[in-house]
Amino acid sequence: MKNLRLVLLSVLFTLIGISLNAQVKISLDNKHSSQKISKHIYGHFSEHLGNCIYGGIWVGEDSPIPNINGIRSDVADALIEVGMPSLRWPGGCFADEYHWKDGIGPKSERPPMINTHWGMVSEDNSFGTHEFLELCELLDCEPIFAGNMGSGTVREMSEWVEYVNADIKSPMTLLREKNGHPDPWYVKYWNIGNESWGCGGNMSAEDYFNNMVRYSTFLRSYPDKSLYKIIVGPGGSDPGWTEKLLKLASENRKMNMFNAISMHYYTVPGGWAKKGSATDFSEKEWIVTIHKALGIEDEIEKNIEIFKKYSPRQKIDIAVDEWGCWHDQEPGSKNGFLYQQNTLRDAMVAALSLNIFNNHCDWIKMANIAQTINVLQAMILTNDEEIVKTPTYYVFKMYKLHQDAILIPTEFESPEYKFEGESVPAINISASKNEKGEVHFTLANFDPLNSHQIEIPVGDDLNFSYGEILTAENMNDFNDFGENEKVITKEFKKASVNKGTLLFEIPAKSILMLEVK
Ligand code: AHR
Repeated sequence: MKNLRLVLLSVLFTLIGISLNAQVKISLDNKHSSQKISKHIYGHFSEHLGNCIYGGIWVGEDSPIPNINGIRSDVADALIEVGMPSLRWPGGCFADEYHWKDGIGPKSERPPMINTHWGMVSEDNSFGTHEFLELCELLDCEPIFAGNMGSGTVREMSEWVEYVNADIKSPMTLLREKNGHPDPWYVKYWNIGNESWGCGGNMSAEDYFNNMVRYSTFLRSYPDKSLYKIIVGPGGSDPGWTEKLLKLASENRKMNMFNAISMHYYTVPGGWAKKGSATDFSEKEWIVTIHKALGIEDEIEKNIEIFKKYSPRQKIDIAVDEWGCWHDQEPGSKNGFLYQQNTLRDAMVAALSLNIFNNHCDWIKMANIAQTINVLQAMILTNDEEIVKTPTYYVFKMYKLHQDAILIPTEFESPEYKFEGESVPAINISASKNEKGEVHFTLANFDPLNSHQIEIPVGDDLNFSYGEILTAENMNDFNDFGENEKVITKEFKKASVNKGTLLFEIPAKSILMLEVK
């Protein structure tokens, strides 16, 4: 009877345009809270593509744009602030046609090349191994090298490892010394090829497996410099690739040849043929985008099932080393440069993806958003000396408190957000506890019209201490050059802990970070 009354009331309220915001009760599973959220889940990806490197990161020492040995100072400052733990480079598809030796030594002697994948432009190789590693030192982040398996050789990749990591007299270490760097760096993370089923060589799983084993054999761990090898996994939805690869690895006892398998997952709102505008979209496209982005969780779970089947004892990590929204390039931008704007919708995709990665941190040890600057779902956009921090940047900044914290699994039933035949859970969340005992919740509410009341029992010892919110007036608001920022984090004060329960209302189309301590 009570239920019937509630239903009738809700029908009436819907008819007169008032939404009944049900209380969403989220419980914390403290008993199963032992997994660390690897900080590398908050990693980035930078490819020699469009203006990601040239113009975005690198302007050269002689540029009028303020720089530190050629690296843009404003971009470096913004990336330090956002807390970037790792950076993958030099591609992407570009990696499989990059010959690292062309990018070392005096710049005037470096041969140019054609970037055949991205705009058929000339690449002058002025940004190479030394410049990239200097960038990583400046940002205090771990480099991830994507090695060329597609058009390179085993020797070339093995010598790259020797050049950057070895501390023993050898042709490569002498060459490094001649180029001004007698001491080795330490590059731990190596991709053995990129999308080898496509742009990285169009290989079958069998071909890739045989090549990978050969390459992996000759990628040496020098003293105190053990390598972490990431092999090519599926793109989008292709668990068949994972299945074939792991079956081969397990039958041939080659599971020890790698530490992680990659996954690439792009959210392409309208599909590859007509992706759709980054800024000019309807509510239908908003919900479809959220629905597609949430699909990454199914793909992760399908892959985990395959790992469990072929490697019941040995743990394989997942590196989601390319993910993000892929829209039509901005009108007027150069073909092949993949330059796109970034709205509150992209922020939602970042928020939900990071929550999903956090919640699967027992398997996912690394993820790299594509890409850092001026390409796809970028953190930062630049235009000559101007710079814009995108809504996605602010999500990464809000979420950085999860880095290396312990996941607290959550359980709840989300209300549904429905629109024109599409339906998604309205609320998405992850939670973690850091060494100081502070608990952080990050939530997204995809519903563009309705807020939701949330209750989270946190215990009597904790109090609400700080909150931040990211939202905007319109779902397609974005930050643009020469204008005040429309999508920016603000302090969120409307939460409290009452009798051990954290209570707050998450506004429509917003992302929240709440701290209790
Ligand atoms: O990020 C752009 C491209 O997408 C990468 O080069 C490639 O790996 C993927 O297909």
